[in-house]
Amino acid sequence: MSQTCLVCQNIDCKSRGSEPLVAALQQKIAAKGLTDVEVKSYMCFGACQEGPNIVIYPEKNWYAQVKTEDLDEIVEHLAGGPHVKRLDTIDSSLKELIYQLLDTGIF
Ligand code: FES
Repeated sequence: MSQTCLVCQNIDCKSRGSEPLVAALQQKIAAKGLTDVEVKSYMCFGACQEGPNIVIYPEKNWYAQVKTEDLDEIVEHLAGGPHVKRLDTIDSSLKELIYQLLDTGIF
């Protein structure tokens, strides 16, 4: 199934370095030959203190406090590798709320 990596580009995530993550993630996904994975900016997931935040949808995985050094592992996961547990730190009730919002098609 194709996946979308939503990378928050709002002020807090940007101030923590989310801006260069978009291009870096796109480049790593292309280098890995993952043609069914897209990278898109997102407006805010409501976990601004935990940024940079990346949500993988429709798979529904949320990675928080992502740094450039973490991207290889995230790309491995997108290629079928293990879920990056140490970046999965967001409270499950907030995750559910955001996943429900995404399920309505608003992104
Ligand atoms: S600024 Fe990124 S989650 Fe709000």
